[in-house]
Amino acid sequence: MKRRNFLMNITAAIGGLVATKAIAKIDHNNMHNMVCDINSDECQKGDGTHQHMNMNNNQMPQKLLPTSALPQGMDLPTLTNLKNDSNQKGFFEATLHLKPTKIALTPNLITEFWTYNGMTPGPKIEVFEEDHVKITVKNELTQPTTVHWHGLLIPSDQDGNPQNEIPAGGSRTYEFTIPKGTAGTYWYHPHGHNTVAEQVYRGLAGTFIVRSKHDPLTSIPEQNWFFSDLKLTDKGQIADNSMVDWMNGREGQFVLINGSYRPKIKIDSATRIRVWNACSGRYLNLSIPNCDVYLVGTDGGLLAKPYLLTKPLLLTPAERAELVIMPKQTGTVYLQSIGYDRNKMGNVPPEQDLILGELVLTKSDPITLPNTLNQLPNMGPAVAHKLLEYTEVMDMKQPHGGMLFLINGKRHDMSRIDLKSKIHDIEEWTIFNNSHMDHNFHIHGAQFIVQTHELNGKKTQPDYIALKDTINLRPHEKLTIKIQQNLPGLRMYHCHIIEHETLGMMGQLMVE
Ligand code: C2O
Ligand code: CU
Ligand code: CU
Repeated sequence: MKRRNFLMNITAAIGGLVATKAIAKIDHNNMHNMVCDINSDECQKGDGTHQHMNMNNNQMPQKLLPTSALPQGMDLPTLTNLKNDSNQKGFFEATLHLKPTKIALTPNLITEFWTYNGMTPGPKIEVFEEDHVKITVKNELTQPTTVHWHGLLIPSDQDGNPQNEIPAGGSRTYEFTIPKGTAGTYWYHPHGHNTVAEQVYRGLAGTFIVRSKHDPLTSIPEQNWFFSDLKLTDKGQIADNSMVDWMNGREGQFVLINGSYRPKIKIDSATRIRVWNACSGRYLNLSIPNCDVYLVGTDGGLLAKPYLLTKPLLLTPAERAELVIMPKQTGTVYLQSIGYDRNKMGNVPPEQDLILGELVLTKSDPITLPNTLNQLPNMGPAVAHKLLEYTEVMDMKQPHGGMLFLINGKRHDMSRIDLKSKIHDIEEWTIFNNSHMDHNFHIHGAQFIVQTHELNGKKTQPDYIALKDTINLRPHEKLTIKIQQNLPGLRMYHCHIIEHETLGMMGQLMVE
């Protein structure tokens, strides 16, 4: 059969479906064929070429820059700190300018990014618990934006909700105090209405570290690994999202660490590493060979005690981790992301291991980590329960391939309150991924503790107790978490595959 005709037939069939029922639940098998055919003339089941993944919304193939065009193996850059303009103790005052910025990735490859203060990743913000933070944001883009302080426990009206946009050309000042006991590894990124995916893939995201004056690991040297994803056209410009990007979450041909492609990272003693997955849609399944790797912290701060990792560390978009790495051998090894099948839609090539960088290790004496790192909140019995259900549906009247990603059957609506919580109540939430692909769950304003995972009728407990604001769900997985919101106001929750969030896989919680 000519594939063009096949495409027509399927489109007609879907059209019929849509006519009788505006929104149809997806048949995953059909979906595979359909996505494949919408995307490409070349597409056949089992055809493993990359060609058909790179289509823009007009169904024209996107030509991408070959990965050989960027230099590799440069020393890992250190992140630049955002300068504190205040010399008052306990006060952090600074300005962030959002603007288009031309950056030379090589002497003859100039790419226009959107940046905070001319750099991507944005400048690193470092403060202490209880510091007062005042950051003025000047929006020199041609579209509105907000700055969301991902993971921080700060008032809702300072947290960059889509309802509080800074217009193009406008500015605003965010002001908040960092609560005591919230030292951890956070980040900031835009959270406007319908614009988050583009603003993030054009380069807007930065790190935010909150330190404690009583950090038990303070004597260990520290590195920051900020992972981001970059998709460049053959002209070296940032590519638009393809339909496949909208469906599965964007993945570019380059994964960067601190803005550098496959850098060389030297580790010559026990080192504490803060890791961010700031990719739009890419799952990282980190493998760090020839080292003892201890997980010591997660999204919201240190674990109660160190946890020796025995398998790769899965970090889904927006998750963070703190590791202590102790090299056991001298030599150079690859830092890799081990192929992880997240059940993408369409006929995409199988997941493969991906080289992220080069680790130059020097064997060093292991150090003894403290047995106790942190006192995690002891959440009592839940006094309220909530249930969220993720689904995927198809509606051909919608843009970007017609995919709708829903929570409790609904798409994000800025004027609708989906859930209400009483301030300080301990709640148990059940999140059910009733769909065929992995999605993660993120909520603003609180750090939660995962209680149980349930998959294929089997209930399991997490391997360690941790403060999380983002957590993955396998297809058909049911997750229970305990959560407490301690500030009033409106909070977003959503899948942090940023394309899904932007397409409306988001809800709104009112805390009163
Ligand atoms: Cu990074 Cu609504 O979040
Ligand atoms: Cu957030
Ligand atoms: Cu998702």
